Amino acid sequence: MKDVSSSAVSTASSKQRQSLYIIFATTSGHTEFVVDTLARSVELSDWQLEQILAEKASQQDMLQGAALLLASSTWNSGGVEGQLNPHMSVLLQSKARNLDLAAKPSACIGLGDHRYYYTARAADLLQEYIESHHGRLLLPALRIVDEPYGQEQAILAWGKQLADVLRRL
Ligand SMILES: Cc1cc2nc3c(=O)[nH]c(=O)nc-3n(C[C@H](O)[C@H](O)[C@H](O)COP(=O)(O)O)c2cc1C
Repeated sequence: MKDVSSSAVSTASSKQRQSLYIIFATTSGHTEFVVDTLARSVELSDWQLEQILAEKASQQDMLQGAALLLASSTWNSGGVEGQLNPHMSVLLQSKARNLDLAAKPSACIGLGDHRYYYTARAADLLQEYIESHHGRLLLPALRIVDEPYGQEQAILAWGKQLADVLRRL
C-alpha cells in the first residue's frame, strides 16, 4: 500500500524555496523601489526573498540563506562624495567589519546620480566588500543611475540574470 503521508512530505520539501537575503539601505526610497521591483519579478519567484534594512541587520543576517544581495545608494557620508549610504556603511565597516563570508554566493546593487563625479560608486564599494570578505560574486553589480522609476526593464533584466546564476548553485 502506498505511504501517502511520506510522499506528501517529500513533495512539500522538494517545493521548499531557498532564501535570498536582501540587505539594503535607502534614504529617499529609490533603493527600496529597486529591491521591491526585483521581489515582484516572476524570475525570482522560486526564491524566498527576505528583505532587511541595513540599520536593522546584524552580521549574522549576512550569513543567512543560500545567497546574499547587498543594495545601497551612493552618498556623501563624512562630507566626502562617493560613499555608501551611512546605514550600509555602519553595517559593513563596523558591525560586519571582520566577517568572513566563506564563499557566500553574493550580488550587489548600487544607485547614484549622473551629476556626481563618483557616479553610483556604491556598486564598486559593495563589490569590494564582498571580494575582500571572501564572498563569491555571482555577476557584475546592477547600477541604477538617476531615479529608478521607468528603469524597471533594466532591473528585471538583471533579476533574470541573477535568477539564472542562482538556479545553477
Ligand atoms: C547628499 C547626497 C549625496 C549624494 N552623493 C552621491 C554621490 O557621491 N554619487 C552618486 O552617484 N550619487 C550621489 N547621490 C545620489 C543618490 O545616490 C541617488 O539619488 C540615489 O538614487 C538615492 O537612493 P536612495 O533613495 O535609496 O537613498 C547623493 C545624494 C545626496 C542627497
